[in-house]
Parts: sequence; structure tokens; C-alpha cells
Amino acid sequence: MYSPKIVAFLCTWCSYAGADLAGTGRNQYPPNIRVIRIPCSGRINPIYIIKALLEGADGVLVSGCHPGDCHYLVGNYFARRRFVVLKKLLTTAGFDADRVQFTWVSASEGARFADVIKAVSEKVAAASREDGSSVLLSSSDVHDKAQARHRERPPVFPNAQKARQSNCPPVLHELISHCKSLLENGTVDAVVGFRAGGETGLSLPCIITSPEDADKLVWNDRCVPNLSGYLCDREGRTAIVAKPCDARAVVNLIAENQLKRENVYIIGMVCDGMTGDNAAPLPCCLECTVRIAPVCDVLIGNPDDVDGIPVQSRSEKDVHDAPLADFTSERFADEMSKCILCFSCRQSCYGCYCKTCFIDRGEPDWQTASPDTGAKMLYHLGRAMHLAGRCVECGACENACASGVDIRYLIRETTSFIHDTYEYRTGMDIETKPAMLTYKTDDSEIGFLE
Ligand code: FES
Repeated sequence: MYSPKIVAFLCTWCSYAGADLAGTGRNQYPPNIRVIRIPCSGRINPIYIIKALLEGADGVLVSGCHPGDCHYLVGNYFARRRFVVLKKLLTTAGFDADRVQFTWVSASEGARFADVIKAVSEKVAAASREDGSSVLLSSSDVHDKAQARHRERPPVFPNAQKARQSNCPPVLHELISHCKSLLENGTVDAVVGFRAGGETGLSLPCIITSPEDADKLVWNDRCVPNLSGYLCDREGRTAIVAKPCDARAVVNLIAENQLKRENVYIIGMVCDGMTGDNAAPLPCCLECTVRIAPVCDVLIGNPDDVDGIPVQSRSEKDVHDAPLADFTSERFADEMSKCILCFSCRQSCYGCYCKTCFIDRGEPDWQTASPDTGAKMLYHLGRAMHLAGRCVECGACENACASGVDIRYLIRETTSFIHDTYEYRTGMDIETKPAMLTYKTDDSEIGFLE
């Protein structure tokens, strides 16, 4: 049998001591593991695991203290959610689920440690290719299946089209007069909204600070960019013209302490979906089920105009998603081949607000100089993991990508997994803690080693 290389991250307070005990107790186990001692399983950044796989490890094991026994009380509870979601992400991207293993081993479980290493070695060996040529699954009919997922765009949104044809629809009147009064009576210092765009017709972000300038605001089916990121560094109280996805992003930024609720005035817009340059609906809007801002200070538009059912009917969506189950690896490789690492997805994403992105950090140096496939995978998987439980499905990443990379499918899979597993949907209410920033002591251990 192939002898795999396995990187084992072991918590120093329990599993590392368990490994010691296995040694002193002369419990035999395969010599495949390379141990990295860590202070707590909660300190494991998922990027370490992704990087290990992409750098040639056949498998990765993370072992910490049993739930309830963490030296830092709750580190492993947070880690457990992270690992469950990471495994889902990796399998969606095409990694064999058996390559990444998580478990708990205490300092007194030397014999269990040996058993764990035996089991992990067998699973990873079975999942490995002897030539180590690829960490991805293989399949033959890449091209046929890639063709199959090209989308048929349905006709344009009827209501949005109407709004675009009208120079000053009633909704825009209402928006402008509301913004004027907010600025006149000093409720806010500025309004972040949209103004008429350039040749492409895309409405552009603008910041209005005087009531006279409020007439420059527009509202139409080309108000595509997510504006929430413009709020983060502002002083004073700012109003935002918020599509439902923008409003959800604002709520999540508040939950992550990037904004204060009292500094934001949310003008929720009833949204019938946005369209692209060719007047076809944007893919994210086809799937969107949140057409009314879930949290807002004022709602503009008629909620009766929309019903929350995705424009793309359920049956059409199922057809589109069906092939994912059996060719995710090819899809991932296909999408990676288009990426040129321009980072426009990151720049346009409301959730990517770190001053220095992990991929730009020098220590450790995550990024290689050339845009090879490994670097692209590391970036996209790392970013997808950062967005787990934070994506508001605004589609800004795919709208900004000049190469047409549809990496949102990965994020969408983890988003719906988190919804199903932890009953959490990002930015839907101001009270609920984001799924990855909390835990339950009885959280399920999906995909963990028995
Ligand atoms: Fe061991 Fe936290 S100290 S998992």
C-alpha cells in the first residue's frame, strides 16, 4: 500500500501528550505523520490545512482536546464548526473527504492515538494517488459537463426594465425627497447611493453631503455594486441606499464590530433584481430570495411588487445545480484556469475588509510569485473559507471578475450548508450572532473521525 505523508496538527495540552504516551507505552502506529505542535485546535487557521495539501501533503490530521476539556475552555468548540465547514468546502472543490481528518485525543489516550494514526493512514493511503500528481479527483468528461452548466439567461426583469425606461419613477422621487429631508434636518451627514453612470450604463457609487445634490441620486436596474463597504471608514452618521443584499452586508458588518448601528441609517430598497450590460438579469439576482431589506430604517418601494421567490424557478435552478455533485473537481480546476489573480473579487467584496489580506502577508509568505494553479487555489479556497457564514449573495465578486470566474458556486455551497447545519443566514437580523463566531456545546461533528 502507498505510504502517505500526513501533516498532523496536535494540540500540545492533549493530543501531543497522547502521542508521547503512545510512545512511552510502546503502542505501534505507522510512521507517516509529521507532527506540528499547536497551542490549541482553536488556533488552527484553515489556510494551514489548505496550504499543506497544496504543498504536497497527502493528508492532514487535526487533533485537539475533547469538547469540554479545552485548556482555553472554548477553543475547540469554535474549531469544530470551522473544521466541519472546511471539510464541506474542500469536498465541494473536489478534494477527497478522507484526506482531511479531525478528531479529539486526550493526554491519557495513548492507545487511542495509535489507533487514530492507523485509521488516518489507511484512509489517506486509499485516497492518494501513488504518483501524487494531483490532489483533485479525476473524471473523464470534463468538457461535456462544463458545457452543460453554461447558463441559459431568461428574459429581462419586467419591473426593472420598466424602471429603467422611466427617467424618474415614483420610487426615485420618494428616495430623493427622503434623502433631502435626512440631510436637511441633520439626521445624517451623508448619503451613500448611486448616480448615473458612464457609457456602460452602470450606475456608480456616490456620496451626497448636501440636500441640493440629492437630485443626482438614481435608482434603476443597474445599481449593481454593493455599497456597504463605503460605510466602514466614515465619521458621523451615514445613510445608505441599500438593496436587500447591501442591507444584509451592513447587518453583518455591525455584527463583526466594523460598524455601529447608531452610525448607519439604512434606506431599504425593494429590489426586483439587477441587470448586466446586455439587460439580462445578473446570475446572483436570478437565485436571490431576499427582495426586501430584512433590516432597515425606512423601506422605499412597494413590497407587493416582489414575492421573494427567485426569478429563476426552482426547477430550472435544480437543473443548473445538478451536475455539481459529480464534477466539482473539474469545475474548480476549470474556474481556476480562468483566474489571473487580479483580486478584483476581493476588492469588490464587502466582506474583504482586512487591511492586509492573508494572501499579501509576508510572514508566512502564502503567495508564490507566479500565478500558478496552486497559488490560485490557495487564494480562492482561503477566501471562500473567510467568507463562510458571511456571504450575502450579492454577486459582487462575479460581477467584478473580468475573466468570468464563477467562484461563487463554492461559496454558495458552504453558505447553504451553514444554513442547513446551523440554521443561520447572514445579515437577516441584527440580534443573531454569525454562525462562525459562536458555537453550541452539542454541535454535530459532521465528517469527524469516529
Ligand atoms: Fe487543546 Fe484547546 S487546548 S483544543
